[in-house]
Amino acid sequence: METEIRALKTLKNATVMAHNYQPMEIQALADVVGDSLELAAKAKATGADLIVICGVRFMAETAKILNPDRKVIIPVEDAGCPLADFLTPDLIRAAKERHPDAAVVVYVNSTAEVKAIADITCTSANAVRVVASLPNDTILFGPDANLAAYVQRELPGKTIIPVPPGGHCYVHAGFTLADVEAARRRGDMIVCHPECPPEIQEQADLVASTSGMVRSAAGTDRSWSIFTEREMAARLRVLYPGRVFYEKPEAVCADMKKTSVADLRRALDREEHEIVLPREVMDRARRSIERMIAVGA
Ligand code: 13P
Ligand code: SF4
Repeated sequence: METEIRALKTLKNATVMAHNYQPMEIQALADVVGDSLELAAKAKATGADLIVICGVRFMAETAKILNPDRKVIIPVEDAGCPLADFLTPDLIRAAKERHPDAAVVVYVNSTAEVKAIADITCTSANAVRVVASLPNDTILFGPDANLAAYVQRELPGKTIIPVPPGGHCYVHAGFTLADVEAARRRGDMIVCHPECPPEIQEQADLVASTSGMVRSAAGTDRSWSIFTEREMAARLRVLYPGRVFYEKPEAVCADMKKTSVADLRRALDREEHEIVLPREVMDRARRSIERMIAVGA
């Protein structure tokens, strides 16, 4: 199947992009592996006719918004992100009525319709920089309340209002102080994603996006306990052979694990499932994403 996939990629001038949480056998077949910001930026730069996003739907939508005239497909149609489902355009409009002077910053883990009414998007890699770049004192930030709390801690001069107040990712919300204690007993460095709850962030030695973890791992020899989706530890073991990275076995994003090698082969062969979005939604969402890309990582 791997040989067929490589042949189909050449035949169709396709590029395969995989998120860091994808199964390792999918990462091994991808042309690009990265976090959501890297996938967005590289999707924009690619010269491929067919863009295959192995990840969850919001990532494929982002690639489509940045490449409206190219074919973007996702191998598994219902691979979604429960965090993205927390935020709707109506919730943003209602919050905007209460805080008319606030800027609206939405995490890329959101639907295209939500991005279309945001002032700017952000990822976990650049959330602090994006919010700091805005002149507004008050920021409506959604859908992840834990990432909002992280930005608030880093930028105490701003007022960050989470929309909705309890938006969260169930994978990251599953980490507890008992996990912190176990990591400390092993003598590990505690490395957490900013989607983890604030009490975990406060205990962490490093709070970083998945690409931040890849970069920072180069600067130390210590064993790490990874407080994010467990595939991240497998990716770091591939990138840094001989180093010790512990994952939490239960920290699994079910939607990220839906993509199989057979799904990827079928997707390339049949060129499905295509992402189709209304042109005006894409045009407005693109403005928010391009403002973010201009701010940088
Ligand atoms: P990154 O932006 O760090 O890749 O995270 C995306 C995500 O879905 C985290 O759960
Ligand atoms: Fe969404 Fe959480 Fe899965 Fe990331 S890990 S895609 S935030 S459900």
